[in-house]
Amino acid sequence: MNYDLETIRSQFPALALTDKGQPRVYLDNPAGTQVPVQVIQRMSDYLIHCNANQGGTFKTSIESDLILEEAHQAMADLLNAGSSSEIIFGANMTTLTYAISRSLGKRFQKGGALLLTRMDHDGNVAPWLQLAEDLGLEVRWLEFDLETYEYKLEMLENLLEPEDVLLAAVNYSSNCLGTINDIKTITEKVKSKGGLVYIDAVQYVPHGITDVQELGCDFLVCSPYKFFGPHQGVLWGNKELLMELEAYKVRPAGDLPPGKFETGTLCHEAMAGTLGAVEYLEWFSETINSPDKELTNRRQKILSAMNSIILYEQKLCKKLISGLQSLPGIKIRGITDPSAMDRRVPTVSFSVEGRHPDQLAKALGDKNIFVWSGHNYALEAVRVMGLLEKGGLVRVGPVHYNTEEEIEKFFEELEPIL
Ligand SMILES: Cc1ncc(COP(=O)(O)O)c(C=O)c1O
Repeated sequence: MNYDLETIRSQFPALALTDKGQPRVYLDNPAGTQVPVQVIQRMSDYLIHCNANQGGTFKTSIESDLILEEAHQAMADLLNAGSSSEIIFGANMTTLTYAISRSLGKRFQKGGALLLTRMDHDGNVAPWLQLAEDLGLEVRWLEFDLETYEYKLEMLENLLEPEDVLLAAVNYSSNCLGTINDIKTITEKVKSKGGLVYIDAVQYVPHGITDVQELGCDFLVCSPYKFFGPHQGVLWGNKELLMELEAYKVRPAGDLPPGKFETGTLCHEAMAGTLGAVEYLEWFSETINSPDKELTNRRQKILSAMNSIILYEQKLCKKLISGLQSLPGIKIRGITDPSAMDRRVPTVSFSVEGRHPDQLAKALGDKNIFVWSGHNYALEAVRVMGLLEKGGLVRVGPVHYNTEEEIEKFFEELEPIL
């Protein structure tokens, strides 16, 4: 594979920045990635050339509407949605989840249970817990194995046994453990018992191929700022459900998706930026994977780009894990088997005996190495691992633009402070 990292990195202006001569080492990506020129250009072009509200009969509004439609189509291509009207833009994943959970609540008023997991980010837990409280629904928990860091899928039959699960809210990939979950199997099981499936793919989309039709789920949410775009959220929903569900909306808003769920005026420039993030993947396929130049269809280009990204990230992840394993007192909380890198994303969390995660993250930050510490909103996961009172974990998250040298630099600075 000709993985031209220099050319890839040249697309991201922030990667070239230094502070007092020190380069920035961005390993904070699970909380948000840097953006390529395609995103910056789209956002600034939008603001300069067609900054307007929707539905006008004049040039800027007409052009703006075309870009917003293109943004919906680009996200439909990224997620392999059947139609651009199944794509809902919003402020972020959490806000979209709160909104759709309220609409679903209208259907759930007769009682039943919600299936939540101990692995999920709180954005896919708290909205459902609050809905359960409002409607008096039962909450059942899918646990993960503390040795393998994977779901105890054998629990699923029992959890679904009463056949009253209205919805299962499950993460595609954990923002803490890095585990990639078998969403297709979980979806099949839940749906065979009549439940809906709501997938949080925020941490998966930057690292894998997302195909909502293949998964068979009912909803899937993600956040463009985690996959090289601007700060916003996107929800995909099954068309029939989106048509059926009642939206909490103002009266003049239309009754069809996506409009009925896209309340108020959206961040148009960010939608243009999200279009740019998908175009970056097209650029990747055309420029980095040069033999794929003949691909004409955007979905094919996305697949080609992601396949290269997946392979490269697995290499980085192996290096990161084996380096951590060679250091004393470190416990990695996630899959470490080098032959199982396809079952995890490169987000690696670890604890260090006798050291507070915040202290380590701060010391690394002082050397311009950006990592996260704490629970990172994976509240349940960190709690069941007994780490909540100990300050959680240190989380290091490379993406496809990070270099092996950056991983080495991370270790150079980590070793002396252990
Ligand atoms: C797995 C996961 N789900 C949900 C969220 C929340 O996303 P947003 O900030 O778009 O609400 C995050 C953010 O870190 C996340 O990692």
